[in-house]
Amino acid sequence: MRMYDIIRKKRDGKELSDEEIGFFIDGYTGGAIPDYQASALLMAICLEGMTDRETAALTLRMAESGDMIDLTGIEGCTVDKHSTGGVGDKTTLITAPIVAALGGKVAKMSGRGLGHTGGTVDKLESIEGFRTSLSPEEFIDQVNRIGLSVTGQSGNLAPADKKLYALRDVTATVDSIPLIASSIMSKKLAAGSRGIVLDVKTGSGAFMKTQKDAELLAEKMVTIGRAAGRNVTAVITDMDAPLGRSIGNSLEVKEAVEALRGKGGSDLMTVSCELAAEMMMFVSGKPKQECLIDVKRAIADGSALAKLREMTAAQGGNAEWIDDTDLFPKAEFSLDIISPADGYISHMDAEMIGTASVLLGAGRNKKDEPIDHSAGIILRAKTGDAVKKGDVTATLYTNDKSRLEPARKEYSRAIEYSDHPAERHPAIYSIIK
Ligand code: URA
Repeated sequence: MRMYDIIRKKRDGKELSDEEIGFFIDGYTGGAIPDYQASALLMAICLEGMTDRETAALTLRMAESGDMIDLTGIEGCTVDKHSTGGVGDKTTLITAPIVAALGGKVAKMSGRGLGHTGGTVDKLESIEGFRTSLSPEEFIDQVNRIGLSVTGQSGNLAPADKKLYALRDVTATVDSIPLIASSIMSKKLAAGSRGIVLDVKTGSGAFMKTQKDAELLAEKMVTIGRAAGRNVTAVITDMDAPLGRSIGNSLEVKEAVEALRGKGGSDLMTVSCELAAEMMMFVSGKPKQECLIDVKRAIADGSALAKLREMTAAQGGNAEWIDDTDLFPKAEFSLDIISPADGYISHMDAEMIGTASVLLGAGRNKKDEPIDHSAGIILRAKTGDAVKKGDVTATLYTNDKSRLEPARKEYSRAIEYSDHPAERHPAIYSIIK
């Protein structure tokens, strides 16, 4: 078999066999196939697409390229969630403790921020002492003890995806539905949970800009997961504006704690409760409405917040910071964004707002760059809100004063105003089972 023939076959719009897909994944992961040939095939896949059979074969081969985590040692129903990436998306910090408080077993491996999107591992590391690299034994033991652990990905989880993702990032081959579906599902299958709830984002801050594409991606991922014997549901949610009121690591942890105290904003609470209820349907087998009631009870009676506190302490974090979020260090510098006129916010470009937050230091421009955990943005007005000339619509935070002006420019470019009220998007568009 030759890589040249596989590239030519896909270039000509033909279907690759399982053997050809396996040859590519094994050869590229092992170093026998060079980047230039892998890039050519990725571009051919972007342009010609893949059948469902090819996408499933690619996913399984990528999942099996490294460790397949065995969670069978965990008693009870293991359930995971995954977001396709967004701005201000702190739902893992809310849903995972809720589900664990209700008896689910959440063994979750999360990522760091990517491009303009944030990552749960970076958020958790803003809590003093919080450890995000647990050994597999510590991870499984903690889930058995308290029902919940959120850690970074083990070094050898789907290494084929790790290598291919880095290549896609620099060859304009990220936004392809079969490549995104196989990338996400290979990691989820390797991570071992029986139930998987996917939060597929759509809008200006998401990889999928239209609802139609988000639904297509969701359908592919659900089909792949089911074929691999897992329970999978996808929720299509809005990412045309950032989720909630805060962007940036410690700011988002603080907002998640407020949400678990029952004081979250409506978009954040709607999405978080929906995801948690879908996860609970796998755990309890109850109908959706009953799961939603259970989810709201776990917030109201404080058990979900207590679970976040318990996880923080179990992973070496200072749990007092959860009790009193004023203990999080504050950024030294801040700058208010002022409304230039009376009117309404008609559109927010969530990707540009995510980029403004990276410019403040909350994310990375290069892999492994250190981040400023207290940098970020508090949104004081969002799409659809009325504003008056001179109102503060957002506040930027950073510990590096020179970052304020570039971030202000980017944030200001992201906001459109109009003199009549704009339609607000629903928080949830559809559910794919
Ligand atoms: N998130 C992933 O893990 N992979 C993709 O390809 C896109 C988003």
